[in-house]
Amino acid sequence: MAKSTLLLLLHLHFLLLFISSSAAAASRPAFACAPESPAASLPFCGTSLPIRARVRDLVGRLTREEKIQMLVNKAAGVPRLGIAGYEWWSEALHGVSNVGPAVRFGGAFPGATSFPQVISSAASFNASLWEIIGIAVSDEARAMYNGGQAGLTMWSPNVNVFRDPRWGRGQETPGEDPTVSGCYAAAYVRGLQQPYGHNRLKLAACCKHYTAYDLDNWKGVDRFHFNAVVSKQDLEETFNVPFKACVVEGKSASIMCSYNQVNGIPSCADPNHLRNTIRGQWGLNGYIVSDCDSVDVLYNNQHYTSNPEDAAADTLKAGLDLDCGSFLAQHTGSAVQKGKVSDGDIDAAVTHTVAVQMRLGMYDGEPSEQHFGDLGPNDVCSSSHQELAAEAARQGIVLLKNSKRGALPLSTANLRTVAVIGPNSDATVTMIGNYAGVPCGYTSPLQGIGRYAKTIHQMGCTNVACTGDDQPIDAAVAAARQADATIMVVGLDQSIEAEGRDRESLLLPGRQQELVLKVAAASQGPSVLVLMCGGPVDVSFAENNRMIKSILWVGYPGQAGGAAIADVIFGAYNPGGKLPVTWYPEEYVEKVPMTTMAMRADPSKNYPGRSYRFYTGPVVYPFGHGLSYTTFSHSLARAPAEFAIPISNRLRANYVNLIELNRTVPVIHAQCDGLHILLHVDVKNLGRRDGTHTVLVYSNPPVGHSAPTKQLVAFKKVYVVAGRQIRVIIKIDVCKDLSFASVDGIRRIPIGDHNLQIGGELTHSISVKVDGLRI
Ligand SMILES: *[C@@H]1O[C@H](CO)[C@@H](O)[C@H](O)[C@H]1NC(C)=O
Ligand SMILES: *[C@@H]1O[C@H](CO)[C@@H](O)[C@H](O)[C@H]1NC(C)=O
Repeated sequence: MAKSTLLLLLHLHFLLLFISSSAAAASRPAFACAPESPAASLPFCGTSLPIRARVRDLVGRLTREEKIQMLVNKAAGVPRLGIAGYEWWSEALHGVSNVGPAVRFGGAFPGATSFPQVISSAASFNASLWEIIGIAVSDEARAMYNGGQAGLTMWSPNVNVFRDPRWGRGQETPGEDPTVSGCYAAAYVRGLQQPYGHNRLKLAACCKHYTAYDLDNWKGVDRFHFNAVVSKQDLEETFNVPFKACVVEGKSASIMCSYNQVNGIPSCADPNHLRNTIRGQWGLNGYIVSDCDSVDVLYNNQHYTSNPEDAAADTLKAGLDLDCGSFLAQHTGSAVQKGKVSDGDIDAAVTHTVAVQMRLGMYDGEPSEQHFGDLGPNDVCSSSHQELAAEAARQGIVLLKNSKRGALPLSTANLRTVAVIGPNSDATVTMIGNYAGVPCGYTSPLQGIGRYAKTIHQMGCTNVACTGDDQPIDAAVAAARQADATIMVVGLDQSIEAEGRDRESLLLPGRQQELVLKVAAASQGPSVLVLMCGGPVDVSFAENNRMIKSILWVGYPGQAGGAAIADVIFGAYNPGGKLPVTWYPEEYVEKVPMTTMAMRADPSKNYPGRSYRFYTGPVVYPFGHGLSYTTFSHSLARAPAEFAIPISNRLRANYVNLIELNRTVPVIHAQCDGLHILLHVDVKNLGRRDGTHTVLVYSNPPVGHSAPTKQLVAFKKVYVVAGRQIRVIIKIDVCKDLSFASVDGIRRIPIGDHNLQIGGELTHSISVKVDGLRI
């Protein structure tokens, strides 16, 4: 979000809201279609009519100017019809957030539960957790809406693929894998929206930022000017996957288009993307909104059109329905006068936005008399939600290293004191990352550890940047000398990785590495290193250091993060998180320009490729890495050895040649409905501690295609009691999971042996054929 002009306006807006807040609560304008409304008896207020008919009735009553003033986030009201203005911009990425101007904390709602940042929740690899968090957040948002302190249209989640480890907003995403990101998008959106009745919604979610947006500001290239050059193959197989899952599986009520251009066309002005792909192919039932000020950006910064009317026309005709900003309110009128925009274009946009408002109940009178009308202050920061935030934080913690002797969990038996050291050791606001709100309260790492042992606290660095000669490293070393064990909490915060701020290096900033090494060397007992950061860091120095017994990655673990960290360190909880991104060594980013979008390696250009799917060079830790205090083994109980893809008789007649040519079946030719393979996998807990484990299933397609070397096709998290074994049934969708996109962007299923890798040690080959054809 937010160019500085917009920010300024927003601050003013905040100020005004603040000044008038107490008055507003009391003398709030009546809700549209309340009994006293001048429109109460009109068809658009008729709750028994279908949404579509109500929308048509309302849009038919509006003047052109009224509709134009509804094309922006701060949509004007229509007093003559009893319709109040509406601020569309609310955010709920990992808890109700006040980044959007519709949300106000204070009064009956001083805060909301702040769940772990998304990259941390992703590390749980637990799809039901993602949905359950969505439900909790929607309870809180709906309660705040009922109390007049939030909107119902959340511009969350951010599901851009975390393509480059330097991206400042990678923390907001579910990571680098399209399968995980798609699954996250669908699960979180389902939770947030909780659809009910006929096409009704509790909240409207919005997956952003469509598409190929994952660069904020790197070496002078910023998102407002960046043209992402993306192949059809990468778009289909990587960048668009989470958005498709969001719309098709999650049924999201909205998509946000991004600032950047994709292959020379601003995302928000590309009819091929908005109208054809999102609305046409995927069937979006909802609205498309621009990132904030991006219509202004494509005119004023990118100079994509030579006059503002063309910018209005290009975006509306491309399929944009709502402008976060004011551009369309200002310039659509003159665009109509100049014949560039038709009333039909405007009606289409307003029809999409109003339909979502109606589905949310905004034209059904008082919220208190509606579904969810009983949600109130007691539902926000409730003890069950705060416990869920702590549980999510525990599930998201990843044990990266644990050497055999003197390692985690720490026993409190002989522990008199623990030295707690590092710039994030007493973190509070750092733990909630960006797009957060005001949390219910915090448990910092120092406080969490203090529940288990007596602590000696030293920051070691005055802040995460940790530069200059006067850093209190010596005091930290002295503390470590006095204690029986040392816990160092280091990492990053929003001053290093943030919106508008990409990194240039993957190393720990400033003198943090020196602090860690000196403290570990001086430590009397075991040294535990805790990394609090969103994006990956190159900590090879610590992985290779014998004095550092254990390393944890905790992401940005949310309001209860410190309690969760301590629960893991002292063994009250057995960690089971896994990395949702590859942790590359520093040399990787020295070789790879952030601006190169290509996923595939190109040896002729010395380009190593991106993510575990294409990059095969050295890593600090691989995607999917994560240890436990116990160990698990896998065995295959049942799986098919071959699989025949059904195709229609009509196609089969032409098929022999096509398959001989390329040995693939285009997914559109396959009869995909319900087509799947089931794997029955036994997971055994070999250790002495109960624990959770995520079974990851990768596929290696037959060779000779430009498919990923390896692709995660399924994952399932299970809890296994020590010494026991349980059976997990894993479903693989043949058309979705076993296909790849060829250079023309068309999805194809390769014929031949697909090798599945299950949980690291197991492999199983499935021979894929075409039904009724011998090859
Ligand atoms: C996934 O998360 C939910 C919600 O916290 C929890 O109830 C469930 O046990 C988790 N699954 C596993 C296998 O840990
Ligand atoms: C074969 O595959 C390549 C890329 O994978 C594609 O460009 C070509 O059009 C395909 N040929 C046929 C006949 O499908």
